[in-house]
Amino acid sequence: MRREEGAGRQVRLDMSDRLRFAGRLRKLQSRDAALLEGFFLSLDAETRQSRFHGAVNDGFLRRHAAMLIGEAVVYGLFLDDALVGVGELVLPTDRATGKAEAAFVVLPSARRRGIAGRLLNAVLRSAANRRCRSLMIISLRDNWAMRKLAARTAARLSIAFDVLEAEIAVPAPTALSFFRETMADMSDTMVSLATDRVEESVRRTVSPA
Ligand SMILES: CC(C)(COP(=O)(O)OP(=O)(O)OC[C@H]1O[C@@H](n2cnc3c(N)ncnc32)[C@H](O)[C@@H]1OP(=O)(O)O)[C@@H](O)C(=O)NCCC(=O)NCCS
Repeated sequence: MRREEGAGRQVRLDMSDRLRFAGRLRKLQSRDAALLEGFFLSLDAETRQSRFHGAVNDGFLRRHAAMLIGEAVVYGLFLDDALVGVGELVLPTDRATGKAEAAFVVLPSARRRGIAGRLLNAVLRSAANRRCRSLMIISLRDNWAMRKLAARTAARLSIAFDVLEAEIAVPAPTALSFFRETMADMSDTMVSLATDRVEESVRRTVSPA
């Protein structure tokens, strides 16, 4: 077993986690807006209830997806090119408090493979690199998966009625945490550019001007 270095070092990662999950983790950008909206709209009623702590309709989910793309740092986990998990980091509106919010959702078919743990690591690293001081995750009090995830960190838990608040202290950024986020972003950009070039080339071949 090892602990991840740098900004995400509070989160325990072991070898079995690494082997359990395959798939690609990357930031979602404005070009992914429709994909993210489709992901949220595909959530079943129980998952919507768990994620948003109440019943939410499609209009709410469309607005939420648009808000994330415009204002948050969003990570997506892809299995076989399908988006199966999303981690959200909403930066503090008041920078002075340093309090960011995070949330996670994984499709039922992809759960218990370490995906949320992986999203949490990425979100924590991004929070550190943006000099957030704490990360608040709100879930229903009987959400055992979230409780276990929070237990991997030095989270302070508080319960009020049906709601569990986990406040995670965000470590200071390190050269390594900046490097890892930057390298991941650069590799995503290169993949996107290459994909655009291939798509353009296919378009030209299929319907030459
Ligand atoms: C919460 C959620 C994101 C977890 O996703 P996941 O990819 O299945 O989580 P992981 O595989 O990384 O598992 C994390 C831990 O929770 C445990 N776990 C997962 N599902 C569990 C369940 N139903 N009951 C008990 N423990 C569970 C795992 O065994 C793991 O524990 P460990 O630290 O001892 O290894 C997912 O269940 C989900 O999308 N739920 C609906 C949305 C939601 O509730 N979001 C939280 C509010 S923001």
